[in-house]
Amino acid sequence: FRVRCQSTSPPRTKRNILDNASNLLTNLLSGGNLGSMPTAEGAVSDLFGRPLFFSLYDWFIEHGSVYKLAFGPKAFVVVSDPIVARYILRENAFSYDKGVLADILEPIMGKGLIPADLDTWKQRRRVIAPGFHTLYLEAMTSVFTKCSARTITKFENLIEVAKARGDETIELDLEGEFSSLALDIIGLGVFNYEFGSITKESPVIKAVYGTLFEAEHRSTFYIPYWKVPLARWVVPRQRKFHADLKIINDCLDGLISNAKETRQEADVEKLQQRDYSNLKDASLLRFLVDMRGADVDDRQLRDDLMTMLIAGHETTAAVLTWAIFLLAQNQSKLKKAQEEIDSVLGQELPNFESIKELQYIRLIVAETLRLYPQPPLLIRRALQEDRLPGGYRGDEDGFTIPAGTDVFLSVYNLHRSPYFWDNPDDFEPERFLTLRNNDNIDGWSGFDPSRSPGALYPNEIVADFAFLPFGGGPRKCVGDQFALMESTIALAMLLQKFNVELKGSPDSVELVTGATIHTKHGLWCKLRRRA
Ligand code: HEM
Repeated sequence: FRVRCQSTSPPRTKRNILDNASNLLTNLLSGGNLGSMPTAEGAVSDLFGRPLFFSLYDWFIEHGSVYKLAFGPKAFVVVSDPIVARYILRENAFSYDKGVLADILEPIMGKGLIPADLDTWKQRRRVIAPGFHTLYLEAMTSVFTKCSARTITKFENLIEVAKARGDETIELDLEGEFSSLALDIIGLGVFNYEFGSITKESPVIKAVYGTLFEAEHRSTFYIPYWKVPLARWVVPRQRKFHADLKIINDCLDGLISNAKETRQEADVEKLQQRDYSNLKDASLLRFLVDMRGADVDDRQLRDDLMTMLIAGHETTAAVLTWAIFLLAQNQSKLKKAQEEIDSVLGQELPNFESIKELQYIRLIVAETLRLYPQPPLLIRRALQEDRLPGGYRGDEDGFTIPAGTDVFLSVYNLHRSPYFWDNPDDFEPERFLTLRNNDNIDGWSGFDPSRSPGALYPNEIVADFAFLPFGGGPRKCVGDQFALMESTIALAMLLQKFNVELKGSPDSVELVTGATIHTKHGLWCKLRRRA
């Protein structure tokens, strides 16, 4: 609304003011000017009672794959259609920005890639994306194994303590452990910083969690309370948030100036030849500083690092959490995974090459992302009026949406759509091996792995945008392969050593959601050493 009102500002005569007020009222009463689009009416309880994506799913089944969700004066368009998603994310990507998401994240990430305006994004994406090349990923696998090994050792030590009490099993919150593991990995991989959070607490770690907590709260609270004048000085939680931000920013600033001061021509040559052997610091920050020289703007670099810290931490921790949640309920699949691990790794540590052989583990990671996509919704705002294409049912002409319309692309709905997946709620990693044709679905090209030759993991191309674990189009995740390999290695190393069961019933694991889907009270599991 705000966008629409600001963009139409003719001379303020009395007559115009009255006209505008009357248009505003009409829009308010109709939940936005979205013509004949099916409408779901949301109640306030839908916003606060349970995760919003559950309600969006029920309305998708009731109203179809493109509908308008009206909350009083505010309307959102909810898309659960691969053809429309492909259009918004790829074909007409630059007619949309991040809208509400940018409003929430800009105070934290500044001009980092996720909330960045289009000009900044174009410039920075060109610089950052090449940093995630294959040899960097290969170098990262030793970071993934090193950090995972520390987690495993911690669990083994706990089991030894339990054994002394005559107990073979330990109970612990694996979600919390995965969060520490993912934080340590992102710290080392992106800016060569040792959080060491698996074994200790520090002011920086506390500040990271404080910032994540606030980001989460902002993304579930629909009124931008943080913009209230003086709030950052008067409201205690806002003061704490700014203090946390300062701690992280100071830490990142220190790392950036250190990276600049220690820039060495010999390392630069190695990086230029993509030679990571014997490179002491293979982090992305090293790459960004070395390849661009001292001219990189520190503020921009800090925003980039902060963005990757936030984007790559809880997301990967969530994949590991839900993978264990699903496997613990499917012991035959867990056993199948362990058989693969035993035959590929034996007692050895995984490396870059073994990821290629751990096919079942890779499929488990993909299937987990299908059932629990992180984030469950992608958010966009139309920069100008646009005409969405007709959906996959082929019987719709598509809808016109006005400039300023907020669009939710429901990845959760796409991933659990009964139109594209057999038994969509079931955990079946094997499903990605089967070709799915498009006989009854106009405009959707089906599921075909040969469309993305060489891809180690199923992606949006093979599923023609019915599977969007990392988004798609120009703003697709830059860290997708990093995250997938990290998850594969961590999962393989955990299952290599331990059997896992849930401590309580699956229903007792309540879901909550902010930017990611996570549990309300942790994922409490029983761990026992494998024979
Ligand atoms: C963007 C998911 C891990 C960095 C995205 C997007 C998704 C996503 C869905 C697209 C958002 C949109 O279109 O609005 C995930 C998941 C991860 C993960 C599920 C883990 C399993 C990572 C990691 C990093 C990272 C490890 C960095 C090391 C980014 C960045 C963007 C992004 C910088 C913005 C890209 C741009 O706009 O150009 N991620 N991500 N992500 N992700 Fe990830």
